[in-house]
Amino acid sequence: MAAGNGRRRRNDLRQYDDLADRWWDVDGPFAALHWIAAARRELIPPAPPGGGSLLDVACGGGLLAPHVPAGYAHVGVDLVASALHQASGVGVRPVLADAGALPFREGTFDVVVAGEILEHVADVEAVVAEIARVTAADGTVIVDTIADTVWARLSLVTVGERLPGGPPPRCHDPELFVDPGRLRRAFADHGITLTLHGLRPAPLAYVRFVLTRRGSVPMRRTANLSGLYAGVGVKRPLAAMAAGGRP
Ligand SMILES: C[S@@+](CC[C@H](N)C(=O)[O-])C[C@H]1O[C@@H](n2cnc3c(N)ncnc32)[C@H](O)[C@@H]1O
Repeated sequence: MAAGNGRRRRNDLRQYDDLADRWWDVDGPFAALHWIAAARRELIPPAPPGGGSLLDVACGGGLLAPHVPAGYAHVGVDLVASALHQASGVGVRPVLADAGALPFREGTFDVVVAGEILEHVADVEAVVAEIARVTAADGTVIVDTIADTVWARLSLVTVGERLPGGPPPRCHDPELFVDPGRLRRAFADHGITLTLHGLRPAPLAYVRFVLTRRGSVPMRRTANLSGLYAGVGVKRPLAAMAAGGRP
């Protein structure tokens, strides 16, 4: 590690360089990202006949790769070259770019996944607009992020950063956490109706992880959106929605 994470300001991208060789340490500082990546699997539709394209916005070390169904070309965008290097090692096509300025034409991807990125950006609406722009008509958008609640600050920052399986210290700036209603409205502005659900670690598996620092923890769905939450939606033409078409 080049520098202790504790010396970085919150949400400093250089933290990912500090931890560049830890992405695939399944019991290490990114353990929970592995659990969350596994939970996205059931939200990704099967690839269309003949193959499909999936964009992984802010792909980090490519932890989604083992959970992408067969038949997709998996493209990953990130701002950190060392993370992209890891992602390319697991079959992700790496593209160095900002989530707020995606270097792809409108409607390029059948599926766009934006996992654990929206709570790291200053302009959520701008990133949502880019996600929506590069998603094909009838394409699927999958997101997960953290709610801007006292509970999320407590469980994922104040306490969570001190627990095994919690986020790396100073990884998050809670000022950037995202209200679920705001996220829903941002996507709705682009013809995508998000269905949201909360995510929490399975309690027994999590206790086992805390005690042994080993093993995967399944993420369970919950109706509670006050901490970690996920959403899925399909892009419909805005005109059709305005005319009363099904979202
Ligand atoms: C918490 S990690 C999530 C990585 C991955 N999506 C996952 O769930 O395993 C956040 C990632 O977002 C990237 N990132 C942060 N801001 C970004 C931006 N504006 N554009 C692209 N990537 C960004 C970081 O480099 C890091 O890899």
